[in-house]
Formats: sequence, C-alpha cells, structure tokens
Amino acid sequence: GAAKPVIVAIDGPSGTGKSSTSKAVAAQLGLSYLDTGAQYRAITWWMVNNGIDTDDPSAVAAVTGKPEIVSGTDPKSPTITVDGVDVAGPIREQDVTSRVSAVSAVPEVRTRITELQRTIASAAVTGIVVEGRDIGTTVLPGADLKIFLTASPEARAARRSGELKGADLNTTREALIRRDAADSGRKTSPLAKAGDAVEVDTTELTLQQVVECVVTLVEEKRAGK
Ligand code: DC
Repeated sequence: GAAKPVIVAIDGPSGTGKSSTSKAVAAQLGLSYLDTGAQYRAITWWMVNNGIDTDDPSAVAAVTGKPEIVSGTDPKSPTITVDGVDVAGPIREQDVTSRVSAVSAVPEVRTRITELQRTIASAAVTGIVVEGRDIGTTVLPGADLKIFLTASPEARAARRSGELKGADLNTTREALIRRDAADSGRKTSPLAKAGDAVEVDTTELTLQQVVECVVTLVEEKRAGK
C-alpha cells in the first residue's frame, strides 16, 4: 500500500540555506514544499499595500483575516498569491523585509498563518517539507523529522548579499542580525530549536552536502531507524 505521508520541519535563522535545502530535499524525495516565510511576507505585503500601520499590533490584528493567501507547493515551482495576485517578486522587496518581523510577531497573524500551514501539510499526499522558524516547535510538533539549520553570521550575511545584488556586506549582516533578534525575542512562538530537532551547522558545508545529509535522515526515518 501507499506509504504514510512524511512530514519534515526545517527551521533556522535567515541565510542558513533553508529555502534551497528544503526545495531540493522535497524535489529529490517527491514531497510537497511550503515556504512559511513567504506567507508571512505575503500578509505583510498586503498590509503595506493597504496602508496599514505595521508598527501598530492592534491595527494589524484587526485586518489579519482579510487577504486570501494561497501557496503552491510544487518544490520545482513554488508560488504565492494574495487575493489572486502573484506576489513572489514584491514580497522580497526591502519595504516588506523590513516590516515582516513586526507583522509576524502579532499573535492573530500567527494563529491565522499557522492554521493555513496545518491545512496545507495535512493535505500533502506523499508528505511535505515545511521551512520556517517555529515549524518543529509550534506548527507541526509531531513532524517525523525536525532539522535546525545554523551558520555563522558571516556566512549567512555573505549568502544573503549574494542574493540581494549590490547589497553591502556589513549592512546586510547588521540587518540580518537585527531581524534574527526580533524573530527570536518575540513572545509568540519565537525562532527556536525543538528539543528533538537535529542541528546541522552549514557554515563549512556546500548546499549539496546539506541536502544529502537531510535526505539521508529522511530515508532513515522512513526505514524506521
Ligand atoms: O524565511 P524568511 O526570511 O522569508 O522569513 C521572513 C520573516 O517571516 C522572518 O523574519 C520571520 C517570519 N517568519 C516567522 O515568524 N515564522 C515562520 N515560520 C517563518 C517566517
């Protein structure tokens, strides 16, 4: 008969290679893929576009239910729309990036997005790789495998400025450290390593090595080791 769906949670701060790793692992194993950061960015994009004061938690909470956020979970071409509009590009812009920590700290936002994530995960037929900050601790505490990716701040800043063309390394590093501190310090489900997560330090590893490591761990789980 068909194998039971496998649920993989991949958490960690930005610049550790979470997205690249998660997509490659999902593609290699024939699983769905969900980028939960993109969902928080999408709701933030909607707030910015609708003139909501993102520094006012009660203003954010009041409109949390309004935008319809839909994630396409094919790891080879993941998609994200808000009210039917493709926002894959705009959610990576600086105005969204600088506001997403504040918006994602609002409990009503987390409740709504967490529900979306659980619905998507439970619908995945073969299983899913879900990447974020609180997947192993809060969203899917029963995941079959939990990975926590880390890397030195220098390595993370170097990877991020490679993605953001022309960005200054020091500025990128400072912004990244500030966002991590905000994500780790918030009250509602902060960035944290689950007690039963496997920590992988990617500082000295290539993407391919990290992917191999995670794929092996999933296969061992499936074999019941
Ligand atoms: O992974 P990313 O940089 O695209 O995530 C954007 C922001 O979303 C990040 O600064 C914190 C927030 N986030 C979160 O609070 N919980 C998650 N599960 C994923 C992202």
